[in-house]
Amino acid sequence: MGDEDTELEARLEAQDVFEPPESFVEQANVSDPGIHDEFAANWPDCWDRAAEMLDWNTEYDQTFDGSNPPFFEWFTGGELNASANCVDRHLEERADEAAIEWVGEPTDEANRTYTYADLHREVNEAAAALREMGVGEDDVVTLYMPMIPELAIAMLACARIGAPHSVVFAGFSADALATRMNAADSEYLITADGYYRRGDPLDHLEKANEGLAGVEHDTDTVVVGRLAANGDGFGHDLTETQHDYDDLLAGHEGAEVEPVARDAEDMLFLMYTSGTTGEPKGVKHTTGGYLAWSAWTSHSVLDIKPEDTYFCSADIGWITGHSYIVYGPLALGTTTMMYEGTPDYPERDRLWEIVEEYEATQLYTAPTAIRAFMKWGTEYPDRHDLSSLRLLGTVGEPINPRAWKWYYKHIGDESCPVVDTWWQTETGGQMITTLPGVNDMKPGSAGPPIPGIDAEILDTNGKQVDPGRAGYLTIQKPWPGMLRTLYKNDERFVDEYWREYSDTDSDDWRDWTYFPEDGAKIDEDGYITVLGRVDDVLNVSGHRLGTMEIESAIVGVEGVAEAAVVGGDHDVKGEAVYAYVITEDGYEEDEELRQAIIAGVEDAIGPIARPEQVIFTPELPKTRSGKIMRRLLEDIANGEDLGDTSTLRNPDIVEDIRVSVQG
Ligand code: WT7
Repeated sequence: MGDEDTELEARLEAQDVFEPPESFVEQANVSDPGIHDEFAANWPDCWDRAAEMLDWNTEYDQTFDGSNPPFFEWFTGGELNASANCVDRHLEERADEAAIEWVGEPTDEANRTYTYADLHREVNEAAAALREMGVGEDDVVTLYMPMIPELAIAMLACARIGAPHSVVFAGFSADALATRMNAADSEYLITADGYYRRGDPLDHLEKANEGLAGVEHDTDTVVVGRLAANGDGFGHDLTETQHDYDDLLAGHEGAEVEPVARDAEDMLFLMYTSGTTGEPKGVKHTTGGYLAWSAWTSHSVLDIKPEDTYFCSADIGWITGHSYIVYGPLALGTTTMMYEGTPDYPERDRLWEIVEEYEATQLYTAPTAIRAFMKWGTEYPDRHDLSSLRLLGTVGEPINPRAWKWYYKHIGDESCPVVDTWWQTETGGQMITTLPGVNDMKPGSAGPPIPGIDAEILDTNGKQVDPGRAGYLTIQKPWPGMLRTLYKNDERFVDEYWREYSDTDSDDWRDWTYFPEDGAKIDEDGYITVLGRVDDVLNVSGHRLGTMEIESAIVGVEGVAEAAVVGGDHDVKGEAVYAYVITEDGYEEDEELRQAIIAGVEDAIGPIARPEQVIFTPELPKTRSGKIMRRLLEDIANGEDLGDTSTLRNPDIVEDIRVSVQG
């Protein structure tokens, strides 16, 4: 490093507040510092601002209906269609502009551009094909697809005919697919024959078929020939209830399907996410509130303009891709990028190559990716001209100041604001973040709640904690993008998110408080630092994994008697899965069993849940009342001092486990 660089590093390191660049503020969609007060003073009518971003078939009568807490409703009486808002309404001005720029993993494959006219054509044809297959309004269609344009098209086609979609991340296992299709009574599946990973074609249809075998009802399936189109298919024969996507669409060439007018509160989609119990939660999002939320935050936080080329590197299989690859950006009529592969294939500069080639204006990624970029070194971004970038964003987990500053300097050249956006599958979109054209940035802290959001940090008694002290993050008022319930499980919805901090007997909405199950602290300026989950949910590479789900996969393996899963610190993934396992009598604690356990987890959930370490132990540390001491297992995983363990039922075991992990 040269002297100049060292000086710069030192300056950056010492700096803990960053002003938004003047050049950014001048052109920002939102730059009026008064917006925070204005929204606070006009709640809930402030949210008309979000609804106004959409085209409505029927105007709504009421902005907010809090009469039946916590089943809140927004924009009641209004009718609209999400696909019309994301596609049709842009045709007049942007028919020939790119809606989706898709980049496949193989570098020798032609990239694909879908203009708004192309998107309109294919969404209509797909909608007509789905209808013909029997998909009716309110039928849940499961999408189990890799990052190909047909995924976004299928979502919009479903939205067009009022069929809620349930996207299952392609990296999830066959079992995970079956569980979700069964839970949603979903009779339709759209999938693909495969995709590319690090240069190799991957057989996805085999996994889908395996999943279908575990579905309890009859199904119809549509298969996109992603690999077959390149001559790389695996030669699966389609069954009678499986249809080739291209063939289906060819039967509907030029079809036009009138977008179904959906009630604002009608379900747009379901998204399954992990919770404390083994059973995934089906988060229900609505057409009006969710779409308004994703559009408004794309406008105010990501500063998206129609002429931008906006790049979010997430997978559409997660909520980030729903809100900030598909719905938000397309509602604003911009160009949204989709990339099939990983950032390090064929080389570690792939993302930077894409940014340069497409002159991307925003990049929205995850701290885990940024930590990997840091590890790989600056030579990769340095090879490319990244000057088209105007804004950087992160999401998914806390970002430490060092990674923030690296991103700000080496990717943003100190001229792009960085938005550290806290939100969840359940919130539908961003909730706590600086507005890039308004607020100063403090690396490591997400920032204030966005205008109109009221967040407080409370202790276990519901009292606000002092600035600087750790407490529990709560959201005091409802917002349009919030989940409406857990699919077919209102009771669990109330228990999971409301019971902790609400007066659940009250029918006054003001007595209800949303609890996201995160710990946090706030500073004197109202900036919130989110500390992480306070439930038994891990955050591995920005993905949510329930420890119970992993444990039940492990105890399903022959030879395992008991298991406890905790998160251990990991420099790239953030958290890694540590599995403590007790074997059944007569089974060896050997490599074979270790591999069977890893395979068991991959089969039940997917490779993302793969244990980093499997630790065999004769016992688990337990309290006198028999509760597993997870905290202790975490401390062991992290090589920390264990303190006093004498109150345990079995104190000796701790030292044995510690030695086997820490050596
Ligand atoms: C959990 C939600 C939001 C889309 C991707 C993840 C953690 C998310 C941040 C952030 C600190 C964050 C929280 C949250 N989280 N963003 N900027 N800073 N923590 O969605 O799978 O529903 O997970 O991710 O713990 O509760 P998700």
